[in-house]
Formats: sequence, structure tokens, C-alpha cells
Amino acid sequence: MTRQLSVRRTTIQGQRILENRLFDTRHLSEDLARPLSPEDMTVQAMEDASPTKWHLAHVTWFFETFILTKHLPGYRVFDETFNYCFNSYYESQGPRQPRPRRGVLTRPSAERVLAYRAHVDAGLADLFARGVETGSEIARLIEIGINHEQQHQELLLTDILALFAANPLRPAYRARRPHAVEPEPAAPGWSEFPGGLHRIGHDGAGFAWDNEAPRHDALVHPFRLADRAVTNAEWLEFMADGGYREAAHWLADGWTAVNREGWDAPLYWEKHDGQWLAMSLEGLLPVEHAAPVCHISYYEADAFARWAGKRLPTEFEWEIATQGISDAAIAPVAAEPRSLPADSPRQMFGAVWQWTLSAYLPYPGYRPPAGALGEYNGKFMVSQQVLRGSSCATPPGHTRATYRNFFYPHQRWQFMGLRLASEIS
Ligand SMILES: [Fe+2]
Repeated sequence: MTRQLSVRRTTIQGQRILENRLFDTRHLSEDLARPLSPEDMTVQAMEDASPTKWHLAHVTWFFETFILTKHLPGYRVFDETFNYCFNSYYESQGPRQPRPRRGVLTRPSAERVLAYRAHVDAGLADLFARGVETGSEIARLIEIGINHEQQHQELLLTDILALFAANPLRPAYRARRPHAVEPEPAAPGWSEFPGGLHRIGHDGAGFAWDNEAPRHDALVHPFRLADRAVTNAEWLEFMADGGYREAAHWLADGWTAVNREGWDAPLYWEKHDGQWLAMSLEGLLPVEHAAPVCHISYYEADAFARWAGKRLPTEFEWEIATQGISDAAIAPVAAEPRSLPADSPRQMFGAVWQWTLSAYLPYPGYRPPAGALGEYNGKFMVSQQVLRGSSCATPPGHTRATYRNFFYPHQRWQFMGLRLASEIS
């Protein structure tokens, strides 16, 4: 085989892999929406959450706006009014439906949104038929579009849970998956890590968001990290010990939130006949003692850590702890990473997003990318905390050791939990 032929084959292979990933991702979004009625897909449970129909349309608008209108000759915009309806927060793309009012979009119908998806998918297929060079600008944008849609797949599940938890019938999104009830785990073990300068951030191999770079040195003091996430059983102890009633455990803003919101348990927990139940995608179920606690705010995570005489890890400490974990352990959605060295922390990925002590700030030398997509991450770098890992709702292939998720400290509707850390004195 001549070199030229071999290069061409590699290019075609690279294009096919990208195309398959794109359409697998597009199909997964529709699969996730399949158990839902058009009514389920339209209602917005609260300001932070978006309707399923909006998610399905917005990720499609993203491909249409940032790729097809610019790079597919002769592309016809499906509906000029959709830019207003389905632009999320891109100032560069003009005015938009306010986020808290996405639930009033009874029109366009769910059926028309699916027709929109089909129209844009046909455009994307056309783009690939014309050739998408590996490493080209178009390939890069498609990769961003895939990762963007994956983020919304997780949000779609998160937001459906918020909706069904607000419904007095407490419907289940899906049937309960068979699983063994784990015994209550023993007290956590502690892994020790040395201090010094550590390399932090994405090394440039494979996809990463702009906020994961530049890779840089961070000075870290010696620390200990719990080898598992905090469990519901431990959270029940915190509650029984008056954790939600003792101001001394709480940051001032957290204590204000506790009193304003009347928090006395994680979001979605409700007490029936003396037993705690929690709303989940599988319906209202007894709180499982061995499972990681989920749906807690940063304020609650911080208060728990203080009550336990520990603290949350910084995002750097968290990342350092994953550096011995193989990629195979990170990959699929699994409550328990596989193939870990015996002394590695467990549940770093696939269980709950883990609050860190780190404010969401730019890494040294960070510059938002030029153009509209510069609005993706950089402009949110204030007043939020970083969460690391991934959750049970994170789609396959969307997990990385350097991934920086971020939410406001009062928010708790994501699949959020915590892991403890401490100094080595
Ligand atoms: Fe988005």
C-alpha cells in the first residue's frame, strides 16, 4: 500500500469514527426521551431545570447555528424563530427566551422538535458525505457538539427527576434496575498523597473543554483522601446529631439557606411512617444506607465535613488522587470503577459528582477561545464551586480525570455528593 493510500484510509476511518459517535449521541438523546409523553417533555419543574423538549431542540440548534449554517453550502435553516426559542445563553447569537420561562414553550410541539432534529441530522449526514477532514475545524466543532449534547443528556435526566419529584404521583422514569442491596460499608479508609508541585489539567490528548487547560503546576500540601464517597448512612448520622440545626457547622450563606429553604435532609428525601424515602429516576424508594449520599448543596457538603472534623478536597487534590487510576476504570457508567489498584480511592467516577473546596476559576494563562464558543465556559467563572468525577447519569464516554463541572453553592438538583479529605499533620 502506498503511503498516500494509507493516509487516506486513516482519514476515512477517523471520519467514520466521528460520524458514528455523532449519530450514536444524537440517537441516545431521543432514546432518553422515549419514555416521556409530550406533556412530560414540555413542563419546566423549576427555574434551573429545562424541559426535555427544550434540551432536544437546543442541542440541535447548536449544530445548526455553529456548524451547518457556516459550513454546509446551501443549508436551509429549519425555522427562523427557533434561534429565539432555543438559544441558551449566547449573547453573540441574539436575544432569547428567558431561562425561567422555557416551560411556556407549548409551541413548537414535541413532534415539530423531532422534525427539527431529523432536518439537522440530514444536514450533518450531508456534511459527512462531502467529507470531514480529521483534525479540521469542522471536525473540532462536531466534537464540541457531541460533548455539548452529552452534557445535555445528563441535564435531561436531572431535570426529569426534578419534574417527577414535583409530581404528586411520583412517577418512575424507568423500571427499577435489579441490583443487590449492599451492606453498610465500614468506616472509610484513607489514602495518603505527598505534597509538592503536581501537574494539573488536560495534557492535550483527546477532547477536553477549554476550562481544563492550560496544564500547569499546582502546589499541594500532603493530604489524605477518603477511599469512598460519604454514604446515606453517614448522612443519617449527621441528621440525627442535629447537623441541620447547629449553626456552628455552617457557612453563613449556608445557614441562611437552611433557614430560608427549611432544609432538614437532602433534596428529594421525604419521611413516610418514620422511614426516609428518596425520589429517584426509578420512583420513590427507601433510602439505601450503603449508597453515596446524593442531591446535596455545597453548603451541606461543607457542613457535613466540618461536623465530621474533616474538610472537602480541593479540585487539585481530587485530580491527583485519580492519577493512578487507569483509563479503563474511568470509562463506562458504573457505580464502581473497575481495575483499580488495591489502594486506590473508589467511586471517583460514575456514582456522584463530588463537591470540592475549589472556586471555579480560570487556570493560570487561561483565555476563552475566540468567537461565539468562547461564551461556553469562561463567562461563568465567578461564584461557583468545582465538582469533580461523574455521576450515575453521566453518559458513556463523557468522563475524564480533568473534567471540571461547576454549580452554584446552593444548587442540589444535580447528582451531587461528597468525599472527605484532611491534612496530614
Ligand atoms: Fe447548552
